[in-house]
Amino acid sequence: MKKMRAGIIGIGFIGQAHIEALRRLGNVEVVALADQDGAKEKAERLFIPKGYEDYKEMLDKENLDAVHICTPNFLHFEMAKEAMERGIHVVLEKPFTVSLEEARALAKMAKDKNLVTCVNHTLRMFPQVKEMKALVEKGEVGDIFAVHGCYLQDWLFYDTDWSWRLEPSVSGKTRAFSDIGSHWIDMVENIIGQRAVELIAEFDIVHKTRKKPLKEVETFSGVSLKPEDYEEKKIETEDWCSILFRFEKGAIGSVNVSQVTAGRKNQQIIEISGSKCSLKWDSEDSNELFIGRRDAFNQKVTKEPSLVEKEAKEVIGYPGGHVEGFPDTFKMQFKKFYKQIEEGIPKGGDFATFADGEREMYLNDKVFESAQKRAWVKL
Ligand SMILES: NC(=O)c1ccc[n+]([C@@H]2O[C@H](COP(=O)([O-])OP(=O)(O)OC[C@H]3O[C@@H](n4cnc5c(N)ncnc54)[C@H](O)[C@@H]3O)[C@@H](O)[C@H]2O)c1
Repeated sequence: MKKMRAGIIGIGFIGQAHIEALRRLGNVEVVALADQDGAKEKAERLFIPKGYEDYKEMLDKENLDAVHICTPNFLHFEMAKEAMERGIHVVLEKPFTVSLEEARALAKMAKDKNLVTCVNHTLRMFPQVKEMKALVEKGEVGDIFAVHGCYLQDWLFYDTDWSWRLEPSVSGKTRAFSDIGSHWIDMVENIIGQRAVELIAEFDIVHKTRKKPLKEVETFSGVSLKPEDYEEKKIETEDWCSILFRFEKGAIGSVNVSQVTAGRKNQQIIEISGSKCSLKWDSEDSNELFIGRRDAFNQKVTKEPSLVEKEAKEVIGYPGGHVEGFPDTFKMQFKKFYKQIEEGIPKGGDFATFADGEREMYLNDKVFESAQKRAWVKL
């Protein structure tokens, strides 16, 4: 078995999570990183052989099998394009791009070049999410008539909270939806095997202005600055987003997405109402799945590899009773991604590919359009 060569672009919060997950795999070596800010120092600190200020130099020199792009959103398109032009397989962070045109171009290029691609929607890799999908596919849930849930965070709760994600030129024209709501809808369409065909979205900007620090702050760093260090900035993207959906087989759906809900650090909930039973999964209790029944006792299904469906077992790394979570989903996603590279067959389906990224940006456009018009839009 060949050891794969990986390079990482962007060593902030999530770039470091990619490195950690890859190191846990064993068959992938992170041979280089690229970051415009302190690349050499970051490489030394993380014990990675090479650090490049210019990511193109890394792509040219390192003979990479795959590159992981973990930079702010507006850079995703250009970086993925440069990598694919060199025949390098790509893991790209979400949101996929900042426009549908970019998304279409990347999806086409990935297909034309027959490359293995992944958009990092790791919610799909939680064992209990896989369990839900398997139960739906086996017909255990019956006909699905409703899906609802939320994705809630609080890291933008105060008007002094700032990040590049608040600037549309860097982050895109939506924020709460593209940053986190995109994870939820990707998970839901994947679990129920149905696409949304209509939606209506309502946005709210809770803080109409925010205080932007006059020096750089790394995302989620929790750094607090003094008042004289800020400038007042008008905010154009949503802190809150509520959406009603209609899915292709008639099910109704709804989700609330927030970056300003105190105490909710990163909570995703999905609840499916079917004609045989209901299913509920809450990321704050991610190793359990609730199965609700009308005429029998309800069940709590634990992450026990000997009892779950085979699709869920595939993404479990430890015995029952040993809690797994967010970092494990990265490991499992990358394990599947590198296996496809090894086999030379880009087939997707299990993890989100660039084709799913195109869908993500299509939904993003429609959510934005609906919120602007304050009306239902057809998909
Ligand atoms: N899948 C997930 O669960 C998840 C979680 C968090 C972030 N993300 C996504 O990951 C991406 C990065 O987010 P983050 O929170 O890590 O941001 P961050 O601000 O913490 O880090 C971004 C890094 O990119 C580097 N960078 C910026 N411009 C660059 C350039 N031109 N060349 C090389 N490096 C450059 C910065 O120096 C920084 O180190 C975003 O697209 C975000 O939406 C995904």
